[in-house]
Amino acid sequence: MSAPELDNLGSELLDAIARASTLAKLEEVRVAALGKKGLVSALMQQLGTLPPEARKDYGQAVNALKTSIGDALEAKRAELARAATAEKLAHERADVTLPVREGPLADGRIHPVSQVTCEITEIFADMGFSIAEGPDIETDFNNFTALNIPPEHPARQDHDTFYFAEAPDGSRPLLRTHTSPVQIRTMLAQKPPLRIIAPGRVYRCDSDQTHTPMFHQVEGLVIDEETHLGHLKWVLEEFCKAFFEVKQVKMRFRASYFPFTEPSMEVDIGYAKIGDEIRIGEGDQWLEILGCGMVHPNVLKNVGLDPERYQGFAFGLGIDRIAMLKYGMPDLRAFFAGDLRWLKHYGFPPLAIPILAAGLSS
Ligand code: PHE
Repeated sequence: MSAPELDNLGSELLDAIARASTLAKLEEVRVAALGKKGLVSALMQQLGTLPPEARKDYGQAVNALKTSIGDALEAKRAELARAATAEKLAHERADVTLPVREGPLADGRIHPVSQVTCEITEIFADMGFSIAEGPDIETDFNNFTALNIPPEHPARQDHDTFYFAEAPDGSRPLLRTHTSPVQIRTMLAQKPPLRIIAPGRVYRCDSDQTHTPMFHQVEGLVIDEETHLGHLKWVLEEFCKAFFEVKQVKMRFRASYFPFTEPSMEVDIGYAKIGDEIRIGEGDQWLEILGCGMVHPNVLKNVGLDPERYQGFAFGLGIDRIAMLKYGMPDLRAFFAGDLRWLKHYGFPPLAIPILAAGLSS
């Protein structure tokens, strides 16, 4: 290609670059000119066909062409990019004076069971209890034997236990039927004085309007050298007043039986039903909310504590039950149905963290 022809080609390409109205079109021009199979590469390949004395000038001319096209492409690319940004800014202007969108924090809800568990924890923490935990899958020893329920004990039939398949060593893990195994774990791991609560899931093969196969309990355990029933009663009364946020509660301690406590009691609280509303501390209807008693000497012996020196009390409280009572939720099964409409209605805003000083549920 002669020098004037090269000049011609150069101005054609510069024209095409000037005419490109978008980055995509500009890219097409670039590929056609400078791409691997583009015009400039083709020109370079002709170099070999020229007589040696012509090569230098030709090479320089093609290189100059390449540079000027490259510069023009870059300048045009920057110009188009600037224009695209300006166009975007003109259309996507943000109005910083608009109110903040509420987003997931406003939509999300805390499940009543979680909320009530926090409330319970807050109350007992304020009384100096710490939180203990245990796994949902338990050993037979922790769930039964150590709690003075040996094999063949009739009380085992009262717990409709979910068992796992037998392990090679003959043991049979189970889903804990109550939070009481956490008593055992705590007494084995720590030295008295002990003052713990243990909230968590428990499982029984049982399902109707007031029972679900999984439900929630909170266990309480106090072990010391001078603990008596008066302490137990006081703790539970203080708890109920704080939880239901009333000055007086009516409580009824009924003699009962649990293998791991002696004496054993069940506790009912008095309430009145006025229309659909439940009022705690008034009226003459009773609802059972917990089991409790003084820790049985055999349980202390099973964890290596001397019953002559240590005593204590324990209680197990149904979380779902007292949640239903406090917040007027009539159907236990709805708790676990995962219905968003129910959760929207009965759930709690994520920032409504229960604090005693602020009024637990306000
Ligand atoms: N574990 C008992 C139950 O689930 C409740 C309980 C706990 C009773 C601690 C006494 C002491 O029914």
